[in-house]
Amino acid sequence: MAELKNFPTGPLGIAVIGCGRISGAHLAAVAALPAQVRLVAAVDADLSAAQAAAKPAGAPAFASLDEALALPEVEAVLVATPNALHAEQCLAALRAGRHVLVEKPVAETGEQAAALAREAEARGLVLAAGHTFRHNAAVRHIMDNQESFGRLRTLEVSSCVKWDGPQAPWWAERKPEEGLILSLFAPHALDFVQLVMGQDDPVRVHVEAARHQSGWQGEDEAMILMAYPGRRMASVHISYNQPSVLDRKVLHFDKGVLEIEHGEILSWNGDVLVAPPEGVLIDPRAMGGRKLEHYFRDQLREFVAAVRGEVHRCPTGHDAARLIGLIDRVKASARANSAADAIDPPLDVVPG
Ligand SMILES: NC(=O)c1ccc[n+]([C@@H]2O[C@H](COP(=O)([O-])OP(=O)(O)OC[C@H]3O[C@@H](n4cnc5c(N)ncnc54)[C@H](O)[C@@H]3O)[C@@H](O)[C@H]2O)c1
Repeated sequence: MAELKNFPTGPLGIAVIGCGRISGAHLAAVAALPAQVRLVAAVDADLSAAQAAAKPAGAPAFASLDEALALPEVEAVLVATPNALHAEQCLAALRAGRHVLVEKPVAETGEQAAALAREAEARGLVLAAGHTFRHNAAVRHIMDNQESFGRLRTLEVSSCVKWDGPQAPWWAERKPEEGLILSLFAPHALDFVQLVMGQDDPVRVHVEAARHQSGWQGEDEAMILMAYPGRRMASVHISYNQPSVLDRKVLHFDKGVLEIEHGEILSWNGDVLVAPPEGVLIDPRAMGGRKLEHYFRDQLREFVAAVRGEVHRCPTGHDAARLIGLIDRVKASARANSAADAIDPPLDVVPG
């Protein structure tokens, strides 16, 4: 990004758009960082949801983004609406001269995400992707000490949870070609892969995907295999069908093995390097058994740093868009390899 503008000096005035399921985590993060950020508007197509979100901060509530963008105190917009709305709402906010933090995925297609990155760059604004799970001590330690581990050869990510059907109505409406888990959950795992692989994109991507549940149309389980320059490889297994939650990252370096267990415990050849504070891992193999507040708080702090032109850890602009380009390739490979007999037909006609 050439020149950033609109450096705010006091707390950044932020409008949250989309006051649904995940907005509570963002609103709690805003409330936890009064020196850095303040809620100046809440927006939801359902005005009562916006009102409930705005009330504790005494902020105004609106049913449309345009109304919030009319307020000069809105310096940044946090987009937490359904995926299909991200591109148009981010574009509207950027064109109105506002910085944007958008929930993953930045957009539905790489082309849309690249257009947003160009818009932000041209206007000297921050477009940051909400890849929440890069914001923790274990990941920070890896990134800050990467050279001490030697050369990275391979990386395995397993991110398996259990959702009993759609967690929001729009999950059920997504068409198989739009992607379900590949659009909703893969961004977290792939963000980690891209983070440790640096500026390289994979030279080859191979994906198998399947659907095991009938409450949605898209794939709910996938295996992604990627070859990176320098003979490096990465595999990602994501699932919405695993009741015993598995969140494990294994990085094979020349000098040994780094592992992150439950998103929080980092070990090097079995020796623990980073452990979370007491109370974060309550019952990590159970759904909801981990505290996640700190991820959203640290992400917001990093976003404010980005807006202020300071060093930060948010994926922004073209870097953020690069991931959506990769997801395009992942979805295309899944469609080419596995859709015909694994995703599309009703479950009752799928043998086995
Ligand atoms: N970072 C994470 O770990 C994480 C976790 C869950 C969800 N998400 C992402 O957050 C986003 C929202 O997911 P959710 O589960 O909260 O969904 P949700 O459906 O619970 O919430 C979305 C909200 O947007 C509102 N909305 C719909 N159309 C709107 C419009 N045109 N203008 C304003 N508001 C509108 C809805 O009324 C709803 O309240 C998604 O992009 C999802 O991928 C991220």
